[in-house]
Amino acid sequence: MLSKVRGHAVGQASSEEAHSMSSVLTIRGGVPLSGRVAVRGAKNLVPKAMVAALLGDEPSILRNVPEIKDVEVVTNLLALHGVGIRKDAAGDLTLDPANARTAQVADIDAHAGDSRIPILFCGPLIHAIGEAFIPDLGGCRIGDRPINYHLNVLREFGAVVDKRPGGISISAPKGLKGAKISLPYPSVGATEQVLLSATRAEGITELTGAATEPEIVDLIAVLQKMGALISIQSDRTIRIEGVPTLGGYVHTALPDRNEAASWASAALVTKGEIFVEGALQRDMMTFLNTFRKLGGGLEILDDGIRFFHKGGKLSPLVLETDVHPGFMTDWQQPLVVALTQADGVSIVHETVYENRFGFTEALRRMGAQIQVHRECLGSVPCRFGQRNFLHSAVISGPSELHGADFNVPDLRGGFSHLIAALAAQGISRASGVDVIKRGYEHFTDKLAALGADFDLEEAA
Ligand code: EPU
Repeated sequence: MLSKVRGHAVGQASSEEAHSMSSVLTIRGGVPLSGRVAVRGAKNLVPKAMVAALLGDEPSILRNVPEIKDVEVVTNLLALHGVGIRKDAAGDLTLDPANARTAQVADIDAHAGDSRIPILFCGPLIHAIGEAFIPDLGGCRIGDRPINYHLNVLREFGAVVDKRPGGISISAPKGLKGAKISLPYPSVGATEQVLLSATRAEGITELTGAATEPEIVDLIAVLQKMGALISIQSDRTIRIEGVPTLGGYVHTALPDRNEAASWASAALVTKGEIFVEGALQRDMMTFLNTFRKLGGGLEILDDGIRFFHKGGKLSPLVLETDVHPGFMTDWQQPLVVALTQADGVSIVHETVYENRFGFTEALRRMGAQIQVHRECLGSVPCRFGQRNFLHSAVISGPSELHGADFNVPDLRGGFSHLIAALAAQGISRASGVDVIKRGYEHFTDKLAALGADFDLEEAA
C-alpha cells in the first residue's frame, strides 16, 4: 500500500505522519523556496550530550532536542543500558542513569542503527558498569570512516579492546587512567572519546591535536555543568583533570549550524528566501563569509538569519573544507549545488573526508558540469593527495538543471540532491529519502511550509 502526502499543504501531514513515511519523493522543481524554518539542537551534539548523562550519578535534562533518527538510536541504546528516559511536552529529555546496567549483545546490535554514535558509549559505560560492547558502526558512506583513533585513545587510558564478530568488547580491569594523548588528525569523534573517557578517569589527561568544533565546546560545557574540570588552550590542547564522580546537567543544545547552512544553500539554489530561526552567527562565520562572497544575501537578526538570492549573478569560488574554524565538510555538498549556478569555474578541495564527492554523479545527470580529480586542487596539499581519492571538484556554471531520478546516497549528499531537484526544471524522483531523517528534523514538513511542490510516498 502506498501512502501519499502532497507538498504545498503543510496542514495535511502531521509531523508523525511525515516521519512514518518517506520512501520516494516526487519533486516538481523550479519553485523558489520562500518562508521560515526553525533549526533545533545540533545533530552533532545532542546524541553525545545524551551519552554524557551516563557519566553522572543524578538525572540530567537536555533541551532543544530535535526529532531525528540519531536521537532515536541513542535513546534506544541508553534505554537498553537501563537509563531512564522521559520526554516532556516541550520535547525536553530527562535522562536518569541511576539503574545503568549491562545490555545483551544481540539487543545492542539490533538498536545500533545506521549511526556512529555507539562508539562514544565506551568511556561512559566503562565508568558506569565496567565494560562496553560496541556493535559494528553505521553512519554515512563518505569514506572508510575507520575507528582506529578511538581504539588507540581507549588503549591509552588503559582499556583492553577485544575485536569480536559483530563488534568490539571493551573493558578496563584496572579502571581508566589519565594519559598524554596526541591525535594524528583533529578528529571530532576521537576528541569526544577522550572527553567522555577522561572526565572520570584517575589523574590528568592532556590531549594535543584536538578538534575544537562548536559542538565539542558545547559538550565540554555539558561536562563542566556535571562537575568536570576541562580547559581548552588556543593551540588545540585540551586538559582534563579527572574527578571521581559527576552530577547531572541542565543544558540547552546549541543550534544545528549544518542544517542552517543547508537551508541557506537551498534559498540560493532555488532563487528564494528563507529565514532560518535559531541560526547562530557566531558558529557560522566561515560559512557566512563564503555565502556572501558567492553573492548570496544575508541578514543577521537576533533570533536567526535570513538567507536570500539577490537577483544578480553568483560569483565562482575557490574553497577547501577543513576542521573548525575552517569551512566545514558538512557545508560542502549543499554549497556545491549553489556553485553549479555561479557564473564561472569554482574549485572545491575536500580535505576532511576522502570520498565526499560521490553525490556529484547525480548532479551531473541533472545537467551540472562537475569534474572530480585525485589531485589536491587547493592551496595546501592534504593527506589524500597522491592517492586514489577523488577529493577535488571543478564546477563550471551556470548550469540549467533538469529533473532526474536518484537514490539518496547519504545525509548531506541526499539533501543536496533534493535542493538541486527543487531548483531543476521538470520532475525528479528521489528514493531512499529516509536517510535524510538522520539529521534534518521534519524536513518534508519544512519543505512544504517553504512552498516546495512534491509528493511523498511510502510503502506501508
Ligand atoms: N578518522 C580516522 N580514524 C578515526 C576517526 C576519524 O581516520 O578513528 C578520520 C575520518 O575518516 C575522517 C577524519 O578523521 O577522514 C575526520 O573524522 P571525524 O572523526 O572528525 O568525524 P566524525 O566524528 O566521525 C563528525 C560528524 C560528521 C562531521 C565530522 C567532521 C558526528 C556524528 N558526525 O564525524 O558529521 O562531518 O565530525 O566535522 O558528529 C554529518 O553531519 O553529515 C557528518 C558526517
